[in-house]
Amino acid sequence: MASILAEEAIVEREATAPREKPLGTRERIPALGLKEYWYPALPAKEVGRRKPVERKLLGERLVFFRDTNDEVVAMHHTCSHRGASLAYGDIHFKGTLTCPYHGWTFDGKGELLAVLGEGPNSTLPGAKGTKMRTYPTVTIRGVVFVWMGDGPAVDPKEDLPVELFDPNLIVMSGQKKWNANWRAGVENFTDAHVYYVHRNSLEFITMPIGPLMSILHQGPNRPEMHVVNDRFLCFKPGKESLLDQFKYAGKKATRPFQDDFPGLGKWPATRLRLYFSNFFSFVRSIVKPSGPLTEHPEWGSGCHLPATIHIDYYRWIFTRYEVPVDANTTNNYFFCAWRGHSALQRFFWPIYFKLYFKWKMIDDFSTQDAVMAEITDYTAPERMSPTDIFPREWRRFVLEYGRDFKRQDKPSA
Ligand code: FES
Ligand SMILES: [Fe+2]
Repeated sequence: MASILAEEAIVEREATAPREKPLGTRERIPALGLKEYWYPALPAKEVGRRKPVERKLLGERLVFFRDTNDEVVAMHHTCSHRGASLAYGDIHFKGTLTCPYHGWTFDGKGELLAVLGEGPNSTLPGAKGTKMRTYPTVTIRGVVFVWMGDGPAVDPKEDLPVELFDPNLIVMSGQKKWNANWRAGVENFTDAHVYYVHRNSLEFITMPIGPLMSILHQGPNRPEMHVVNDRFLCFKPGKESLLDQFKYAGKKATRPFQDDFPGLGKWPATRLRLYFSNFFSFVRSIVKPSGPLTEHPEWGSGCHLPATIHIDYYRWIFTRYEVPVDANTTNNYFFCAWRGHSALQRFFWPIYFKLYFKWKMIDDFSTQDAVMAEITDYTAPERMSPTDIFPREWRRFVLEYGRDFKRQDKPSA
């Protein structure tokens, strides 16, 4: 009897002992994002000349103000003196920021210029340990981008969407907060959710939905993915690829609108959405899309490092930059681009964006994605489907090509 009890006790101890599990692919991608990249932070017009503005990126609190050249400065928000938040500081002198506690006053390079609380004879300006960390910034299309890396900043053109640099395109932008981790936001890009989650969005029911379903309902099949220039993950071009789906979406459906699920019945239950779509989509068909807005091989339809979903719909480009704020929050910075060759186009698209398009693509369509990312437990065990090829490949892509991992791998000099 005694020996049986001893055996049971051992079994119980083994069962409850914490198990060391090696980190899987998913867990090795940092919850606070990849650091060695440029990220959009805020519209430049929000950075005034009287008070600093605070934003959190990748778990780090930053303050923004303007230097003597009126360029936006991003500075670490904790004062190098005794840790007060510079976000509560003041701008007493052009191009500087003064800490609210003892009046340490920094310039746009983070150098301590004066200590207002001690007077002009203070010996601290220029002294060791007083300098604040600043982050490189660049303002493009009215948006301030920040280099969050510890290593040297790369050319912004390596990271930022190509439409921002094309003078023939009109670009509108905005932000939306998602209460989800950035990885869940990126992985929502494309899989079997697309037709299902968005089935009642205005975007879908005004599209030729029958052909679109033919393309999206691929059962276990999914086109293969590949990596371009070590920075862009996309489906291989082909008849069923995401890249081409919009080209084919205007063509005839290759399958019935309703599916028959043995033992369950038909889904969708009615053909109502199809009728709506047939009615509304004739408007879109009047103006035929004339082809991709950009021919850049890194910026078609796919996911660009660090966290940028980019879709060229041939009439417009939709870009979602998933900027990590903290482990549970993402700032979804979006850009919408249209052809802007004529004065009429340049006049029309901003109005169209403000009055209608923003609501349709962001508040209606993308909010459906936001809800899915927010209700998903990203750490839960998974059983992947073959149509989950994007999240699977994306995880490998980040770990293999992410600059953070490449820079870590380099032997130190
Ligand atoms: S804590 Fe900033 S000046 Fe003292
Ligand atoms: Fe979606």
